Amino acid sequence: MPVQTLVWKNDVLRLVDQTRLPAVLEYIDCHDVETVAQAIERLSVRGAPAIGVAAAYGVVLAALEASRCRDASFADQVRAGIDRLAATRPTAVNLFWALQQMRAELDQASAQDPATVCQVLLDTADRLWQDDRRICRTLGRHGAELLPDGANVITHCNAGALATADYGTALGVIYAACEQGKRIHVYADETRPLLQGSRLTAWELMQAGVEVTVICDNMAAAVMRRTDIHCVIVGADRIAANGDVANKIGTYGLAVAADAHGVPVYVAAPVSTLDMSLAHGEQIPIEERAPEEVTHGMGQWTAPQGVPVFNPAFDVTPNHLVTAIISERGIARPPFRPALAGWTQESTP
Ligand code: MRU
Repeated sequence: MPVQTLVWKNDVLRLVDQTRLPAVLEYIDCHDVETVAQAIERLSVRGAPAIGVAAAYGVVLAALEASRCRDASFADQVRAGIDRLAATRPTAVNLFWALQQMRAELDQASAQDPATVCQVLLDTADRLWQDDRRICRTLGRHGAELLPDGANVITHCNAGALATADYGTALGVIYAACEQGKRIHVYADETRPLLQGSRLTAWELMQAGVEVTVICDNMAAAVMRRTDIHCVIVGADRIAANGDVANKIGTYGLAVAADAHGVPVYVAAPVSTLDMSLAHGEQIPIEERAPEEVTHGMGQWTAPQGVPVFNPAFDVTPNHLVTAIISERGIARPPFRPALAGWTQESTP
């Protein structure tokens, strides 16, 4: 892929600063867990799988810091780092899934000396990074079966290489179809509140040589009416046991428009995005972000000072609007509950 979202080298986690794209490609070097936590909060690193992997390396940094400082118990300091990372963003379940694995490794190795524990944690974070790269490619190959040559596709927000360790989920499906020689044209939206479709997806697809057109969020229905749109493909931050999908705010509206125009909606996500402990999507915690993301844009006030703002970062698309869910295990269609339950019980392919 044209850009490496997260790279671990010489005890430093290097992240692409996604708040600066597309104006400049800049990196943030994280030497401590607090820098990683703030990068997640600020959306310098974002996208469910990328948040999970970044947090795993954040735990390694917490362990390295704790191994240099002797005023509290080593394991307690690392656990405090895990708690700090868990408090950054509430919706993407991949964050908690990754931290749970890091905590389990810590608990199991805590009788060992700090240097050994640091190495165990680094090996685990490296494995999560490698697994995510492999899973995205497998998922992409499954999803590419759904795309014919010449397909026009709408995607929302960024579920690409920038949102994962590499390759992406929704965009992974598109990359895999292009690698099979299919010509795919992508319409990218999420132009408010954060412009992640126009800033990130359009930039990433142009770097990869995939045809892309930016549309504003309120243009999607009109595009479906006048253009032959084959499908909508999006990623997910958390999928409940019944197939309800939490994803970037605006996904639900896009799915309603797709339903009205007979356009299928595909959700591409790794099994680590499933939360089988939640019966339905209304139980998914939805992050609310600062009002400034809505009241400010283009370097100036875009709403009157003092106006109340509602700024949820995500919405929930009910399962009846989802045509299929694509993961590294294959393609699930309604009713989703048995298929998703089966995926979580299988061992990693
Ligand atoms: O707020 P963000 O940018 O972290 O939201 C990202 C999304 O909603 C993505 O679609 C989702 O995390 C899937 S990324 C493969």
